[in-house]
Amino acid sequence: MIKVNAPYITEDEINAVIKVLRSGQLAHGPIVEEFERKFSNYLGVPYTIAVSNGTVALYLALKALGIGNDEEVIVPDFTFIATASMVVAAGAKPVLTDINPRTYTIDPNDVRKRISSRTRAIIVVHLYGHPAKMDELADIAKDNNLYLIEDCAQAHGTEFRGIKVGVFGDVSAFSFYATKNLTMGEGGAVVTKNREIAEKVKLLRNHGQVSRYYHEVVGWNFRLTSIQAAIGIQQLRKLDKMNSIRRKIAKIYLGGLQDVDDIILPVEMPWAKHVYHQFTIWVKEANYRNKLMEYLKSKGIQTSIHYPRPLHLQPALSKFSLGSSEYPNSLEASRHVLSLPMHPGLTESDVHYVIESIKNFFKK
Ligand SMILES: Cc1ncc(COP(=O)(O)O)c(C=O)c1O
Repeated sequence: MIKVNAPYITEDEINAVIKVLRSGQLAHGPIVEEFERKFSNYLGVPYTIAVSNGTVALYLALKALGIGNDEEVIVPDFTFIATASMVVAAGAKPVLTDINPRTYTIDPNDVRKRISSRTRAIIVVHLYGHPAKMDELADIAKDNNLYLIEDCAQAHGTEFRGIKVGVFGDVSAFSFYATKNLTMGEGGAVVTKNREIAEKVKLLRNHGQVSRYYHEVVGWNFRLTSIQAAIGIQQLRKLDKMNSIRRKIAKIYLGGLQDVDDIILPVEMPWAKHVYHQFTIWVKEANYRNKLMEYLKSKGIQTSIHYPRPLHLQPALSKFSLGSSEYPNSLEASRHVLSLPMHPGLTESDVHYVIESIKNFFKK
């Protein structure tokens, strides 16, 4: 079976984990701080606070900004649920917003429409590894005195006009889940240029503890382990290489599938560097999407749908829906998208086999 995604783990990660296990320091320790320093250097941002996963990274970002009290946060309707559910967890209200159907990222024009006197922040998601339109979104945030939060869970190394995402917002959240471009199995990070926000996140990550068993505020245990950080350090060393393999695979897909009229291929806008966390195609005839998925499965090719349900149709968030007619692009995307195998372990012949199989499906 050709997997839709898979972690890229070598002896480097295995040896690093063994070293930590032998060290006796398994929980938070100097290796976590080493990862934080190196990740900050990679992005070009002063503060990285490593946490347990991307979900709590979003939660802590909102908490550190003091967002709650039924205030409103603008979020895309087409993303993984954590982007919006953490707004609810923080005590605020997610205002679901439509996407641009070409980049699958939040539509700045729709953002403008959703701003009210209660709006405090905009969360942008660099979905699939393609950046959102950061200049326009940053202007909107500035003009309306809103915080800008970046959900970079799928965008390690993604660039907007030559600058890595994660540095545009007041605060950003990364995930290092098993399938991400940089993985630790589970893991996350909050990234910020702002020292005060960094201090708050650090405090909240570890029970509000300022010195041993002295707790200034109520917090949580959202720490990362040294085992995870050791994997992360090794992954970070080869992140650019892994991303360039993803981009090479994307190039083969784009070349091989360009004449297939039944699908729309992912775009890389002129201002973007896409890191292809997912290589997601749009099947023009919605009825064929699931059939293509089944056909590829019968050929030993795993695919996935990111995402089969927009957030406004999720039972958990339905009370925040303004009705499907408010999110036409998000709704359509959920019916048409299909993610093809994309990870650095794929061989060129795997990719050509996927291309040929898709062509065969549409020939029939
Ligand atoms: C866009 C987006 N936001 C947030 C998350 C949450 O990250 P995690 O799974 O590490 O909690 C994910 C990952 O699954 C994601 O894809």
